[in-house]
Amino acid sequence: MTETFTLITGASEGIGREFAKIAAARGRNVILSARNAEKLEALAAELSAEHGVQAVAIPADLAEPGGAEALWAKASEGRKIDFLINNAGLGRHGPFDAETPGDGGWERELASIQVNVVALTALMKLAIPHLKEAERGRVLNVASLAGFTPGPGMAVYHATKAYVVSLSRAVKEELADTDVTVTALCPGATESEFFKSANMRSARITQIGKPMTARDVAEEGYDAAIRGDSVAVTGALNIVARWATKLLPSALVAPITKKVLAKV
Ligand SMILES: NC(=O)c1ccc[n+]([C@@H]2O[C@H](COP(=O)([O-])OP(=O)(O)OC[C@H]3O[C@@H](n4cnc5c(N)ncnc54)[C@H](OP(=O)(O)O)[C@@H]3O)[C@@H](O)[C@H]2O)c1
Repeated sequence: MTETFTLITGASEGIGREFAKIAAARGRNVILSARNAEKLEALAAELSAEHGVQAVAIPADLAEPGGAEALWAKASEGRKIDFLINNAGLGRHGPFDAETPGDGGWERELASIQVNVVALTALMKLAIPHLKEAERGRVLNVASLAGFTPGPGMAVYHATKAYVVSLSRAVKEELADTDVTVTALCPGATESEFFKSANMRSARITQIGKPMTARDVAEEGYDAAIRGDSVAVTGALNIVARWATKLLPSALVAPITKKVLAKV
């Protein structure tokens, strides 16, 4: 067993929980983070008992300014981290101008910018100097198929994920002569708590095809990061959708995405 650790954000639920199980099953020590301390503690106990790895739970609210920095300080104290999985994320479904600053919608969008963009960037900045010192360093940023299209009906979420794709590709290129790679994972619809918490269970996207399981998405993403792939789109249907966004005239992409995101 290695003495290095994989830090996984958003490990209490969904895709992040599956990343944690996969990493531990492959003999990796894991640091699990999210807000729900109880779920993290239970998962950490389960993983160390089942796989004999070190599993540490560090609760953190990444929507709070300074949340990422506080998490990194606790996670890296006395530990070598050579794999960062920036998975925590959230979205809000609804018209951009339906609510005004101060009510629930903007609050959730602000939290999504803080978690999906600011905290993800801060953790990368803090981690990369350590990853460079490791034998092999890996960053896996969970973006989305949403990162390839503007998202009328979910505008802020799509914009945050476009940022993640762009940032990941650029930093990977900057690090080309090091042993550190950055991978942007781009899942399509996936079974998790995401649609419920984003208030989008009646959106058409949730009814097109069968969502992938969180397990399958996490496995594809984990392997893509180990290989050092730049961008990984999960599942055959999503790869077709990705190609469609490239081939369609750009004027059609936003109107079609609007239909896909609309409530039915
Ligand atoms: N599900 C999909 O269809 C889909 C598709 C493409 C991309 N994605 C992306 O996949 C990633 C994982 O999402 P999921 O589908 O697994 O959703 P999920 O089941 O809702 O899990 C989200 C995770 O993020 C954590 N989180 C949320 N707000 C947080 C905060 N303020 N601070 C710290 N952690 C926070 C949650 O934990 P706590 O509530 O305990 O904090 C949870 O562990 C996200 O980045 C999402 O954008 C999902």
